[in-house]
Amino acid sequence: MRKRIVAGNWKMNKTLQEGIELAKEVNNRVKALAPQHTQVIVGTPFIHLAEVNKLADAIAVSAQNCATEASGAYTGEVSAAMIASAGCRYVILGHSERRSYYGETDEILVKKVARALENGLDIIFCVGEVLADREAGKHFDIVKSQLENGLFHLDAASFARIVVAYEPVWAIGTGKTATSTQAEEMHAFIRQTIAGRYGKEAATATTILYGGSCNAKNADELFSQPDVDGGLIGGASLKADDFLAIINARENH
Ligand code: PGA
Repeated sequence: MRKRIVAGNWKMNKTLQEGIELAKEVNNRVKALAPQHTQVIVGTPFIHLAEVNKLADAIAVSAQNCATEASGAYTGEVSAAMIASAGCRYVILGHSERRSYYGETDEILVKKVARALENGLDIIFCVGEVLADREAGKHFDIVKSQLENGLFHLDAASFARIVVAYEPVWAIGTGKTATSTQAEEMHAFIRQTIAGRYGKEAATATTILYGGSCNAKNADELFSQPDVDGGLIGGASLKADDFLAIINARENH
């Protein structure tokens, strides 16, 4: 069975002290829950990674970005090697906020994907359409091109280290979740697209997360869909109660 994942994306929230408190609580409650089927990840700001990794023994830790270059004179950047050296197993790449606010193109993402894989990081790779694309009926084409341009140059062994996160941009932080039907339809399409490139077995083994206003109330319905393997959770990952409810919803399905 493919891996089920509930990953928190804290974005630019929480001071170091607040983040340590939240991570501690999440870690301890996940340890008590001892999920059998669900990998829990917290995606913290860079500043928090080393400290959170020290206390995390029931959850994995992810960065939210990495540099395109390996090292050197790139003021303000954080390399994949640094992230790995802080104890991280994952990095989120291609989030729509990075794509739209920081101009991350497919070409930039190809470089980031390479740096992450070279340093042993598994990747949560985000794809998703904006509202205008959906309204124009172009959502499948957009997501397909994001997969093709960002990932499909990888060989099968590298692709096996990718978790795909479908995050319709119109649902992120808006309180407007995709319906479970819309999510399933796109997840099934993503899996079929992966099958076309890497074969059915690889597609069946790929974890595909849904993200975009996923919360304690709608998680159960979303996770009931056969191709929705878990969630990438923004706002609702900032409160331990809400995040744990989502983890429970995944674990109990
Ligand atoms: P949201 O964010 O859950 O706050 O909508 C999800 C994400 O951007 O990963």
